[in-house]
Amino acid sequence: MNAHQQTPTAPNAARARTSRLPLAPTGGGSPGGGPPTVTRILGITGSLRHDSHNRKLLDAAAKTLRPGTEMVLFKQIKEIPPFDEDDEPVPAPAVAWLRAQIAEADAVLIATPEYNGSLPGQLKNALDWASRPYETNVLQGKPVAVIGASPSPGGTAHANADTCRILARIGAHVSEQTLLVPRAFAQLKADGTPASYALRQQLAQVTSSLAAAAGAARQARAA
Ligand SMILES: Cc1cc2nc3c(=O)[nH]c(=O)nc-3n(C[C@H](O)[C@H](O)[C@H](O)COP(=O)(O)O)c2cc1C
Repeated sequence: MNAHQQTPTAPNAARARTSRLPLAPTGGGSPGGGPPTVTRILGITGSLRHDSHNRKLLDAAAKTLRPGTEMVLFKQIKEIPPFDEDDEPVPAPAVAWLRAQIAEADAVLIATPEYNGSLPGQLKNALDWASRPYETNVLQGKPVAVIGASPSPGGTAHANADTCRILARIGAHVSEQTLLVPRAFAQLKADGTPASYALRQQLAQVTSSLAAAAGAARQARAA
C-alpha cells in the first residue's frame, strides 16, 4: 500500500485525509508462530500547512522504520472542531476518527511546530479531544514521542517540552527520545529528504525506540 492509498475502515471524509506510509518488510512470524506482528505508529503533525516542515519530518521518519513497523498519518486535524464539553455526547466524525486511529495504533509520533513559544492551538485541541472521555482515554499508557521542526535557529524546544508535559498529564507514556530540527530549510530538502546522515540516524533512533516501547507495552498487556 502506498502513501496515497486509503485505510479500509476509515469513514469517507476521513479516508481522504489519511495515508499509510510504506510498510517495511516483516522479519518473519511472531514468536508464538502466528502471523507477523506489525507495529503501527500513528503520525500526527500540529501543522495544517500543505508544505509543512513537520509533515516532511514525519515522512522522513517513516522512511527509517525497521522491518515489521508501519506508519499511518492522521491528516484530518483541521477538521477537528474546538473542544466543547457540550459536544462530548456526539463528537464530530473527525474526533471519533482521531480516537479510533490512536486506539488502533501501537504508538504515536507527534511532529509539532512551535507557535509563539508553545505548541499550536489546534494540536492542543486535538489532544484535549483525544483525552476524553476520561474513562476511555485512548492516550492512557500509549507510547508517544515528540519531534519538531522550525526554520528558526532555536527550533521547537518550547513546543516539544509543552507537548510532552501535556501528554504526561493526559497519561501517555512519553518517550525520552525527542528531536529538535532547527533551521528546517537547511536540514530537510524540498522533497522532505533529510539533508544529512546524522538527521536520518536521529530519526531512526526516535522511531526504533518508539517501536520498542510499543512492543514492551504489547507484552505487558499480554502478560
Ligand atoms: C503564529 C506563529 C507563531 C510562530 N512562533 C514561532 C516560535 O515561537 N518559534 C519558532 O521557532 N517558530 C515560530 N513560528 C514559525 C514556524 O516555526 C514556521 O511557520 C514553521 O514553518 C511552522 O511549521 P510547519 O512548517 O510544519 O508548518 C511561528 C509561526 C506562526 C504562524
